[in-house]
Amino acid sequence: MIEKTVVLIKPDGMEKHVVGAIIDRFERAGLVLSALKLVQLTQPILDTWYAHHKDKPFFPELSKQMMSTPVVAMVLSGEGAIQKVFDICGPTDPAEAAPGTIRRDYGVDKPHNVVHRSDSVEAAAKEIGLLFTPDELH
Ligand code: PPS
Repeated sequence: MIEKTVVLIKPDGMEKHVVGAIIDRFERAGLVLSALKLVQLTQPILDTWYAHHKDKPFFPELSKQMMSTPVVAMVLSGEGAIQKVFDICGPTDPAEAAPGTIRRDYGVDKPHNVVHRSDSVEAAAKEIGLLFTPDELH
């Protein structure tokens, strides 16, 4: 099934200057860019984006980190895009990620794991709605 999924290059990824290298990995896997822009995240956006983490002790730190620089936000499309992007990024904790995944190759720890990616089709729809207008999707 053709799916759409969202990837954010987080502030730690922005500071490492690996935007091009990260997009290259997705394109080489056959995923297609449907939208791409720089976004300055805000607390109201993050309150909704991470609603399921709002009660966790790390939420204030996560919010602060996510607002510390603009992030690159993209929508990737393709056959089984959610799982493909998950495999290319690796799991949340870079220490548990396999060599060759984005998080293992560029990440440091759970807060500094370089990219966010949608967990599910439902999460992708919510995240697209929060960051993109219909005319920004191609
Ligand atoms: S959970 O509880 O297992 O659902 O959460 P987890 O998968 O570990 O992490 C979810 C997102 O929270 C970020 N995270 C943190 N940020 C700041 N500080 C700490 N300590 C921390 N621990 C986890 C983690 O990077 C995940 O962000 P996303 O954007 O979903 O990758």
